[in-house]
Amino acid sequence: MSDAPAIDAERVIADLRELARRTSDEAGAQRLCWAEGWRSARDFLRELLAEIGLEPEIDEAGNAWVYLAGAREPALAVGSHLDSVPGGGWLDGALGVMGALGAVRAWAESGVQPPRTVALVDWADEEGARFGRSLFGSSAAAGTFDPAELANARDAEGRLAPGVLAENGVELDRALDSRSRLGRLGAYLELHIEQGPVLEAEGIKAAAVSGCVGVERLRFEITGQVSHAGTTPMEARHDAGLAAAAAALRIEGIAIEQRGVATVGEMDFEPGIPTAVAGRASMVVDLRNRSTEALARMLESTREAVSACAAERGCEVSEEPVWRIEPIAFDPELVADARDACEEVAGTAYELPSGALHDAASMAPHVPTAMVFSPSIAGVSHAPEEDTAEPDLIAAIEAFGALTNSRITTAS
Ligand code: GLV
Ligand code: MN
Ligand code: MN
Repeated sequence: MSDAPAIDAERVIADLRELARRTSDEAGAQRLCWAEGWRSARDFLRELLAEIGLEPEIDEAGNAWVYLAGAREPALAVGSHLDSVPGGGWLDGALGVMGALGAVRAWAESGVQPPRTVALVDWADEEGARFGRSLFGSSAAAGTFDPAELANARDAEGRLAPGVLAENGVELDRALDSRSRLGRLGAYLELHIEQGPVLEAEGIKAAAVSGCVGVERLRFEITGQVSHAGTTPMEARHDAGLAAAAAALRIEGIAIEQRGVATVGEMDFEPGIPTAVAGRASMVVDLRNRSTEALARMLESTREAVSACAAERGCEVSEEPVWRIEPIAFDPELVADARDACEEVAGTAYELPSGALHDAASMAPHVPTAMVFSPSIAGVSHAPEEDTAEPDLIAAIEAFGALTNSRITTAS
């Protein structure tokens, strides 16, 4: 339907700027899930929806849903996440939610009923930045969440996840009831920034995403012996901190060897003082690869490396799983539609895999799913410097709008 109402990209960007103004400080975006900044972001979304006569419903996992009723269902779902990492950027997740709002708003303000119902979703806790478990809300809706994974998880302040969620109206044991939302959906589309360097280097303004990497995330605890920093001879130490540091360096090599990526983004020592050899080190390892087999090899080699580095210093190791997800390819037909929309709007048909995680990875096993990426300046994200040149943002938003409309007006 060529007369489908077009998304207003400038207005989407204005909403994003206002969101950033309300929920950022000098250190970046502060929309950590289940906290004040995130709740303010949701309030802002509620205000914007009220302007077009819509009101969000919150499901059992804390996801916010809004339905613009169309002539038929299943609905096309569009969305992303308003939560951010602490000190994050203004676009990660927010672009997808405000872009989805732009798509819904275009129809709502046109006065024409969409041929298909459009469901906007703002997923809860995509980042996992607080409790280590990514894609909480979307995996609950997909039925792949296990409440046991969060039952004993604590945030940096030592607060347990179930209590923090309950303060936000979410009962951990009921989160999976959000699965009932899935039955109404026929496809899922998400707009996001690339968060990496590829599109900028290639000079591409908007691109289709072919799928997401798989992730293995686990915590290793290395136990040595606390001893005096001044009196313990180097050869007599059981330094858990050095064992962890040595392991982290070997893990870097494993990632390179297996053409994946590995991050030790969290490490802490006990007692954590300058005058004692660390008796305990805890580190969280995040391994990612597009290939299931290579990811499995990364995991095996990582376990061997940590055990060997601990043994070399007379330390013990234990591990606990934090979270995992298989690599996933998006729907080829919908990805091709996304490529076409990018070509139509921005002049180039381009497709790339995502190294970052997305709620789309939760949806893809259940409904045809695709994503559109905008470039990221210098590939930087999860940092306050995160940005996209405005013409590129406009192109990606418009490509997403065109893709969304093609799905609303034609496909089953
Ligand atoms: C989320 O942004 C992730 O890729 O971990
Ligand atoms: Mn994101
Ligand atoms: Mn992120």
